[in-house]
Amino acid sequence: MARLEYLIALIAAAAAQQVDYAQFVNPFIGSEGPIPGYAYGGGDIFVGAARPFGVVKLGIDSHEDNITIATINGGYTPDGIVNGVSMMHESGTGGCPKYGVVSQMPLTSVVAPVNFLDNTTYWQKRVGEDQAGVGSFATKLESGIGIELAASKHAGSIKYEFPGQEKHVLVDVSHFLPEPIGGHCTQYYLDGQIGISDDNKRYTGYGTYAGGFNLGAPYTLYFCGEFETAPEEAETWHGLNISRITNGTIPQPTIGGKNVTAKPDGDRVGALFSWTGTNSSTVHSKIGISFISVDKACKFKDDEIPTWNQSETVSAAKDEWNSDVFSKIRVDTGEKANQTELILLYSSLYFMHLMPSDRTGENPLWESEEPSWDDFYCIWDTFRNTISLSHLIQPEAYESQIRSLIDIYRHQGYMPDGRSGNDNGLTQGGSDADNVLADAYVKGLRGAINWTDGYAAMVKDAEVSTNGSNKEGRGALDDWLTYGYLTQISERSISRTVEYSLNDFALSQVARGERPEDVNKYLRRSAGWQLLWDHDVPSVNTTPIFKGFLTPKSAAGTFNSTDYNPATCGVCSWPSITYEGTPFEYSFVIPHDVETLVDFMGGEDSFSNRLDYIFLPNTSQASLGPNGLGITTIMNIGNEPDFATPYLYNYINKQWKSVNQSRALARQFFRNEPFGVPGNSDSGALNSWLIWQMLGLYPVVTQPVYLLSSPWFSDLNLTVNGNRTLRITADGLGADSYYVQSVKINGEVWEKNWFVHEDVIVEGGTIEFVLGADPVVWEKGRVPPSPGHVDLGGNGTARR
Ligand SMILES: *[C@@H]1O[C@H](CO)[C@@H](O)[C@H](O)[C@H]1NC(C)=O
Ligand SMILES: *[C@@H]1O[C@H](CO)[C@@H](O)[C@H](O)[C@H]1NC(C)=O
Ligand SMILES: *[C@@H]1O[C@H](CO)[C@@H](O)[C@H](O)[C@H]1NC(C)=O
Ligand SMILES: *[C@@H]1O[C@H](CO)[C@@H](O)[C@H](O)[C@H]1NC(C)=O
Ligand SMILES: *[C@@H]1O[C@H](CO)[C@@H](O)[C@H](O)[C@H]1NC(C)=O
Ligand SMILES: *[C@@H]1O[C@H](CO)[C@@H](O)[C@H](O)[C@H]1NC(C)=O
Ligand SMILES: *[C@@H]1O[C@H](CO)[C@@H](O)[C@H](O)[C@H]1NC(C)=O
Ligand SMILES: *[C@@H]1O[C@H](CO)[C@@H](O)[C@H](O)[C@H]1NC(C)=O
Ligand SMILES: *[C@@H]1O[C@H](CO)[C@@H](O)[C@H](O)[C@H]1NC(C)=O
Ligand SMILES: *[C@@H]1O[C@H](CO)[C@@H](O)[C@H](O)[C@H]1NC(C)=O
Ligand SMILES: *[C@@H]1O[C@H](CO)[C@@H](O)[C@H](O)[C@H]1NC(C)=O
Ligand SMILES: *[C@@H]1O[C@H](CO)[C@@H](O)[C@H](O)[C@H]1NC(C)=O
Repeated sequence: MARLEYLIALIAAAAAQQVDYAQFVNPFIGSEGPIPGYAYGGGDIFVGAARPFGVVKLGIDSHEDNITIATINGGYTPDGIVNGVSMMHESGTGGCPKYGVVSQMPLTSVVAPVNFLDNTTYWQKRVGEDQAGVGSFATKLESGIGIELAASKHAGSIKYEFPGQEKHVLVDVSHFLPEPIGGHCTQYYLDGQIGISDDNKRYTGYGTYAGGFNLGAPYTLYFCGEFETAPEEAETWHGLNISRITNGTIPQPTIGGKNVTAKPDGDRVGALFSWTGTNSSTVHSKIGISFISVDKACKFKDDEIPTWNQSETVSAAKDEWNSDVFSKIRVDTGEKANQTELILLYSSLYFMHLMPSDRTGENPLWESEEPSWDDFYCIWDTFRNTISLSHLIQPEAYESQIRSLIDIYRHQGYMPDGRSGNDNGLTQGGSDADNVLADAYVKGLRGAINWTDGYAAMVKDAEVSTNGSNKEGRGALDDWLTYGYLTQISERSISRTVEYSLNDFALSQVARGERPEDVNKYLRRSAGWQLLWDHDVPSVNTTPIFKGFLTPKSAAGTFNSTDYNPATCGVCSWPSITYEGTPFEYSFVIPHDVETLVDFMGGEDSFSNRLDYIFLPNTSQASLGPNGLGITTIMNIGNEPDFATPYLYNYINKQWKSVNQSRALARQFFRNEPFGVPGNSDSGALNSWLIWQMLGLYPVVTQPVYLLSSPWFSDLNLTVNGNRTLRITADGLGADSYYVQSVKINGEVWEKNWFVHEDVIVEGGTIEFVLGADPVVWEKGRVPPSPGHVDLGGNGTARR
């Protein structure tokens, strides 16, 4: 680059940095489901104060009255009753809630009926509208107390405005987010301690908790709180484990003393701070947390939030989000820009960066030079396209996450599929960290990743049985190694066969560089799905009837197609033949060998017809529960298995249909509203799907391949590979003008509907779309590759 050009580029980059993209984030998208006022069926998102990949996600914890639909995974619910403000949350998780720990609750009264052991005696409805922005949250309780939150990566700042003279802050170390209906995966509190400093200004201690969605082992979290103004009174309390009380009367806690440690029977501990003599209505505190020690928790508080000026902490958070996240994708934000689309883009980026959590330096389990990350929920969700977007726009964090996955394998035996609270669990399908590693590897990510160990971690997944456990690895590996597929007596036999196939393809990809002699073995194993393909099985209750589906099969090799309807799967959960999707859907999920899939479905026309069918309203025959509320098509954009399906038309050179279907889904289901994502956001997996849609690209996981669709912005600059720029332009874009007419990549006319990583991601580049209102078949080139193409010949299921 000439010197002048370089300077101009620098100035442009600096100008880009200054745009406050954070103003376009709506932190409530996904906070509500289809039932107004309830989180059920919505995004299960966290709403509160957080930094990108922050350990602290500071927000309110709430209780929803109707327990059959209560969904409190993110702590926040639209109309729920507040029973605490706590430091740690997850965003977008299902299953049992995790965290909601290290809490405070502001109170205007502490006399009867208030009982610290019974949150229902002091919980509060909210009044007015909650306010949330990037790095900040505010709400008002019925008691008149206002709450304002701000956060750094390991600390939080909580500011209360009290309505009158009486001001109390209750700290309950035993507080956590319960599972409303109870059950085996609910969290529990095990142990705690809290001490108050001589001047009453500081409190420190720890809590130990376990359980939650991943059935996690106990972990201990240290905390260090400080008030701006010392309370006149401060005392600890302790009391009986409430679940042990059977006679209906909840006793009062024992109050008194400056330091209390839980007795070993689940004794609950906490503290009460009271201000009586001051006239100021404000009570402001800062709290640091650490998995290592009280000292570190205190240091985080002091170093990361050096000010009592709340707006400075909020500004610092916004700056961090703008520079580290939002400015990676720059579009025109001027007056002519469509505000809704700006909000959808930057909010999606926001939700994609709340998880996982960067716990580097905060790993209590082993000493390591490697970075440490937690809160992978779940790789089953994020492997499909979230990680590929991280690779583009967060290469450093992404490399660090992969190093951490490998380090978990080194020290605990297996890479996680889900992980939280420093413990692996649960695995819904395959060992999908294999896909993450392969996706990074084929795109050339090396950095400080030890690929010898990375490949060894994958081989462990592929070769060492976990004896049926769903904690990590592959729970049905024995079947897979014996038969090449999962027999019908194995749970999730069809969906796990599909996933193990891709996992083994992932191994073959990494083996190409790390251990070439393994390539053929894993490639062959990656065709296992073909062994479950019954070419004769018809669809049921469909017009027309489609033939050939993944079908349950016995160990003896006979298909069980008696009364088989591939469009149903009972509860479609752990014990079913397929997990959170029907065999009809899973029969499309073979990204490594679409060539064979098209062939098995009867060739291009019949593949196209079958695809068309699943997008028709009222075709679904399965009940999707909260994973598909309001969705009546077989295609379920509310859950991950089908994420790539709308783009499969690229494989038969009918790209315009991919554009048509994917854009229609995006427009129908992703909106700037509380019910603005079609279900549980799964740590941002739904959000990253939308970002790819808006970029006009879709990644093919475990391959260095991207499919072209159609962008939503006429000019967009994406920072890739750390400091390069990929510019995507769309000439002719309009409300009804979005079908691709032609494409140029790096100035060259492009006739294929796909490209590879090297083309524009490594050094940056340009993709120029010309769009129009008429659907046209513009592509002439080769269809996207099927590098996992395996012809099993006579060993496959014979076509009859
Ligand atoms: C709880 O929600 C379910 C589902 O909307 C509804 O059928 C039921 O009537 C509700 N129960 C109460 C007590 O509101
Ligand atoms: C609040 O109290 C209810 C009723 O005792 C209990 O089930 C729940 O776990 C408590 N919630 C929190 C967050 O402590
Ligand atoms: C409270 O007691 C514990 C255990 O004796 C001690 O480690 C801790 O430092 C004490 N905390 C304070 C604030 O004095
Ligand atoms: C109820 O149970 C609590 C806790 O076990 C006990 O302290 C209390 O005496 C009991 N009250 C009655 C009336 O039995
Ligand atoms: C509190 O009681 C519940 C229910 O009996 C139990 O699961 C939990 O382990 C107890 N907590 C402790 C720390 O003993
Ligand atoms: C509180 O306000 C009252 C009335 O304005 C005043 O008399 C009193 O001195 C104030 N107290 C403090 C501690 O500032
Ligand atoms: C993208 O980058 C180019 C080259 O620096 C610049 O001319 C253009 O204005 C940028 N577009 C946007 C939307 O930032
Ligand atoms: C702005 O974008 C939204 C979402 O794509 C779309 O529904 C709306 O029609 C657009 N508004 C205008 C004025 O183009
Ligand atoms: C990878 O890690 C292993 C130990 O786990 C070590 O023996 C090996 O030297 C490392 N390889 C590289 C290239 O650092
Ligand atoms: C075939 O599958 C059905 C469930 O769809 C099951 O009830 C039946 O036992 C299976 N038949 C055989 C022979 O395994
Ligand atoms: C981009 O970053 C790489 C790696 O840090 C560095 O070697 C290179 O000089 C940078 N290029 C530019 C144009 O800043
Ligand atoms: C079929 O299976 C046999 C025995 O397992 C094997 O030797 C042969 O290579 C396989 N053929 C094909 C085409 O995969």
